[in-house]
Amino acid sequence: MLYFLIFAVAWSSAQRADIPPVKDGVMELKMVHIVWRHGDRSPTKTFKADLFQENAWTFGGGGWGQLSPMGMFQHLTLGKKLRNRYVNDVNSTYNFLPSVYDQKTMYVRSTGINRTLISATSNMLGMYGQDGYGSAAGTDFPDAQGWPRGFVPIPIHTVDYDSDHIGNMESDCPRREWLWNLAQQSEEVKNWRNSEAVSSTIDELTSYVNETWSLEDFWIVPDALFIEQIYYNASLRANNTWFSDDFYNRIVAVNDQIYMFQYGIFNNTVTMQNMNIGLELLKVRSGPLMNDMIDRINTKSDCTYSNNATGCHWINGLKYFVYSAHDETVYAVLVALGIERFAIIPHGYPLYSAAVSVEYWRNTTDNNNYFKLVYHKQSGDGFEVMTSEIEGCSGDYCSMDVLEQIARKLKPDQPIDKWCLITESSSSYSVSISFLMFVATTLNYLFM
Ligand SMILES: *[C@@H]1O[C@H](CO)[C@@H](O)[C@H](O)[C@H]1NC(C)=O
Ligand SMILES: *[C@@H]1O[C@H](CO)[C@@H](O)[C@H](O)[C@H]1NC(C)=O
Ligand SMILES: *[C@@H]1O[C@H](CO)[C@@H](O)[C@H](O)[C@H]1NC(C)=O
Ligand SMILES: *[C@@H]1O[C@H](CO)[C@@H](O)[C@H](O)[C@H]1NC(C)=O
Ligand SMILES: *[C@@H]1O[C@H](CO)[C@@H](O)[C@H](O)[C@H]1NC(C)=O
Ligand SMILES: *[C@@H]1O[C@H](CO)[C@@H](O)[C@H](O)[C@H]1NC(C)=O
Ligand SMILES: *[C@@H]1O[C@H](CO)[C@@H](O)[C@H](O)[C@H]1NC(C)=O
Ligand SMILES: *[C@@H]1O[C@H](CO)[C@@H](O)[C@H](O)[C@H]1NC(C)=O
Repeated sequence: MLYFLIFAVAWSSAQRADIPPVKDGVMELKMVHIVWRHGDRSPTKTFKADLFQENAWTFGGGGWGQLSPMGMFQHLTLGKKLRNRYVNDVNSTYNFLPSVYDQKTMYVRSTGINRTLISATSNMLGMYGQDGYGSAAGTDFPDAQGWPRGFVPIPIHTVDYDSDHIGNMESDCPRREWLWNLAQQSEEVKNWRNSEAVSSTIDELTSYVNETWSLEDFWIVPDALFIEQIYYNASLRANNTWFSDDFYNRIVAVNDQIYMFQYGIFNNTVTMQNMNIGLELLKVRSGPLMNDMIDRINTKSDCTYSNNATGCHWINGLKYFVYSAHDETVYAVLVALGIERFAIIPHGYPLYSAAVSVEYWRNTTDNNNYFKLVYHKQSGDGFEVMTSEIEGCSGDYCSMDVLEQIARKLKPDQPIDKWCLITESSSSYSVSISFLMFVATTLNYLFM
């Protein structure tokens, strides 16, 4: 019995160590970043006249915005697929991560709300928590009655939701709102809003449900209707005689365009107050996340050469970093890379459990860094390599310089928590800075 125990411990720690590098020819996989959307959920709110108010939603703890069992299952499934891609197991594409959970290799960061936290838990259950994955009772989980065999709890880290400018695109950020208000005064947005197709759709909806919305709140309606078609399809149609597939599609098209505007996608460059509004919007929405990612990749790369440097200890072990987040977070990455048209075709937002994986590879011949961009479009799909769709890239691998340049272009001018408070253009901002410096110098002079 004792011998067996020692053997089991030795075997499972052997699994954890000694994973040879994953090679694809001369390319070696170094680190993976994944940004995913949570799974199926209840609406987060709805229009006032809706039949289906908060008490219509009982799953996942009940009420608005909760992950459903279907949503949990979608992430269980994605977690199993990620195991098939990255974890050392019989059918794995890359034997990159140990078959048994090793805390040094991964970090999961979720936004601070229930559905993304539970999505992360469900995903990890698929990736590391099944019986038969090789984890050992008594080492990886309690050898005790009542504990599900093979279930290994994985830590999910989080941060305050309202100040999470990396994962939550609706964080408290006055600058984002200020820029959006400017964008709405642009000719392009005004012309679009006043066009016959758009105003008739919005007016019709208002006449049916007796409510009006700001453009940025318009999503509430198509989002609720999308979910009600999943859970209450027949009674939605029976009771709302105005509902039709055609009308719903028109609402969705309006919403998709609002989404694009909010992420700075305009047909013409919108310049206001000497700013490129599209670029400035992306700098607050995508900039923090893209830079968080590239900074970590650069640290990983630097530490490969000077692995005794302070701060290298953690990153040297780290192979897998997850952002468990929202459709908008996935969208922010796709827009930054200029491939948002693939979110869903023709347009629209990333669906439940959509996931974008940024794989960092090193070319062992020229010792340069490359990335591969992989997309999981929706629950049930596989992984699609999309690197070549990015401008400046061709083939499955692309120079890390391309990603670096994108991140640098979108980097907020100041740390994002400060940058979010600046609601004036950078030119008037620098004017006011110089003015303040002038005042300070003058005062200094006067008091000398
Ligand atoms: C591995 O792949 C084979 C062939 O697709 C399949 O039959 C088998 O069930 C898979 N095994 C696991 C553990 O996924
Ligand atoms: C999360 O769950 C808690 C406790 O069940 C609940 O009070 C809270 O409203 C939920 N929050 C979100 C954002 O889902
Ligand atoms: C429409 O909404 C307004 C404001 O909420 C309310 O005063 C009015 O009674 C509503 N009209 C109908 C027909 O429901
Ligand atoms: C809802 O019902 C319509 C009409 O019966 C059908 O075409 C559609 O596929 C259904 N949607 C869902 C999500 O089940
Ligand atoms: C809606 O329509 C269905 C089917 O006609 C009916 O059974 C139900 O009572 C109606 N009301 C609600 C709130 O679902
Ligand atoms: C942008 O241009 C395309 C192609 O000309 C057009 O179909 C679309 O309506 C335009 N969008 C806006 C918001 O003006
Ligand atoms: C760490 O590496 C530097 C060279 O990059 C070397 O000068 C230094 O002695 C090393 N320190 C330790 C503790 O090994
Ligand atoms: C790796 O580097 C070598 C030497 O520069 C180059 O010929 C090769 O194309 C690179 N491989 C990839 C996949 O980028």
